[in-house]
Amino acid sequence: MNLSLIQNYAQQILASDVSGHDYWHLQRVAHLAQNLARQEQQLSPQQNDLLLASSYLHDTIDEKLVPDVQQALLKGREILRQAGLQEEQVELVTTAIQHLSYAANLEGPYPLPLFAQYVQDADRLDALGAIGIARAFAYGASHQQPIYDPHIPPIKLHSKTEYRQHQTSTINHFYEKLLSLQETMNTSAGQKIAQQRTKILTDFLAEFQAEWRGEK
Ligand code: ADP
Ligand code: NI
Repeated sequence: MNLSLIQNYAQQILASDVSGHDYWHLQRVAHLAQNLARQEQQLSPQQNDLLLASSYLHDTIDEKLVPDVQQALLKGREILRQAGLQEEQVELVTTAIQHLSYAANLEGPYPLPLFAQYVQDADRLDALGAIGIARAFAYGASHQQPIYDPHIPPIKLHSKTEYRQHQTSTINHFYEKLLSLQETMNTSAGQKIAQQRTKILTDFLAEFQAEWRGEK
């Protein structure tokens, strides 16, 4: 598989992103997904190709990031074929990346093949820990969202529309989504890292609240 073809395409699509979905997010997801696979159950070279292709393509079909999702899917398929994947593998990758996101799974969980479970765990882990904090505030700023506003209560999210459209603050986003991501991991290696990275968030939130109240 010609991975650099897929990487160059992804880089081109997400070049100007400042909402936490830049090319480096894709690279971190690819590296961490491979790390999880090494800890759990080694993938065959073919499965590893599917993992890499999905990691680098997963946000190139995100409705927040591209103007036309159907067209982005067609283009993604074309790149995968050019990179040397067979039609069956193209199908596996495009189906997987359409079902990875948190928003897609609010409508009900989708049973992903093993390679995609690693990618999904890695994608979610990149929303936690130090990087997760940085990404949340980058996302918040790029969506004109306040850092924190005590008058906006956190809500329980049920649907994709609710998730995308409700007015919130970045601190609320931690309570509405990020703190519960650790319960959604597919793999035990992913879950272990999720617990460590969630602790970074809870420590950060405790410090934030104390500073907000002028206690220290
Ligand atoms: P997924 O990665 O499952 O597609 P998103 O695109 O919604 O999910 O989230 C990707 C990143 O954007 C995460 O780091 C997440 O914390 C951040 N993000 C999404 N919505 C918000 C929000 N309302 N406020 C702050 N950060 C957000
Ligand atoms: Ni992502």
